[in-house]
Amino acid sequence: MENALLSRIVASANLAPSVHNTQPARWHMASDGSILVMAELARHLSAGDPYHRDLGLSCGTAVEGTVMALADAGIGVAAVEDLWAVNDTVAFPGYRLAARIVPGGAAQASPLNSHVANRFTWRSHFKPAAMDAAQALQAWAKEAQDVTLVHTVDDIAMLAALADEAGMVFLRDRAFRRELVGWMRLARSHPRYDADGLNLDALRMSALEGFGAKMVLGTGLFEAVDALGLGKALTGEKAKTLSATAIALFHRPREESPVESGHAFYRFWLNLTRLGFAAWPMAAVADHAESAYICSRHFAIPSERRLINVLRAGVAAAVPKRARLPVQLVIT
Ligand SMILES: Cc1cc2nc3c(=O)[nH]c(=O)nc-3n(C[C@H](O)[C@H](O)[C@H](O)COP(=O)(O)O)c2cc1C
Repeated sequence: MENALLSRIVASANLAPSVHNTQPARWHMASDGSILVMAELARHLSAGDPYHRDLGLSCGTAVEGTVMALADAGIGVAAVEDLWAVNDTVAFPGYRLAARIVPGGAAQASPLNSHVANRFTWRSHFKPAAMDAAQALQAWAKEAQDVTLVHTVDDIAMLAALADEAGMVFLRDRAFRRELVGWMRLARSHPRYDADGLNLDALRMSALEGFGAKMVLGTGLFEAVDALGLGKALTGEKAKTLSATAIALFHRPREESPVESGHAFYRFWLNLTRLGFAAWPMAAVADHAESAYICSRHFAIPSERRLINVLRAGVAAAVPKRARLPVQLVIT
């Protein structure tokens, strides 16, 4: 494959969502013509992702993005080999192999590929959705095996409260906060503002709010605010969550590899985009075991299914510019 074509495919694939916008996926053209996707271990979140699940999910979305971009370029995929369970960190020191994509056969373009450029995370109040759009969302979710859609006011309020509680569990962990702030780009002068992590535009924050977030989350001030019982009031997202049209619970077979779950997660999110909805994950509900249990039980998700993520869905008021690494840095 020519370099220009590979760059085009990888640039599109790297628009896939990744935890904290860490963009851990790296692409390598092997001598046999297959494409290896691997996780850069320096981008793993040691405090936020102790079991490497988010790392695997973030590579899985990138693999799905690669398959779609290849098909769009007229290149078929004969096989996608999931290498996550092998846990190979030796073949490429500093990286963990995630998947091998073997080109071949006829290309089957995905109708979801045309939504890749329009998908983004919206982290603020949602505008109300038109009735027919909300109905189309419900009709799609009814048919989707991996999705449980929550749309009554009471159920959304229940999840909003659960998410804020679960979020606080993580925020009370100093190492988690330090890592989170490390991936935040809270001033436009940050050298990697447009490259990776969570910048002010993505967080829908003003420069002043960014400064405040850094002061509270990045120092011991958080403990003081929390001791006064104000932690949740300051960091909670309840009012914004309540403005969502619906909340989509995304679940997959419990024993599935996170890379495989990542493929499906990306298709799920792109379907929300296709239906005209922007999304905002609240992963804390899925990552905090007790909250995941409460949520799964309340919404009758079978125990053999793992709650992968919980996404607010609604109509965004703007389109934030997305930060991505230059493509030459993600091709190894
Ligand atoms: C596994 C996973 C978990 C995520 N969890 C959250 C979350 O809890 N809160 C949030 O605001 N965004 C979350 N995101 C969204 C990412 O932060 C987002 O995809 C990334 O910043 C890139 O931005 P984009 O989606 O606008 O392209 C998650 C993404 C992935 C893949």
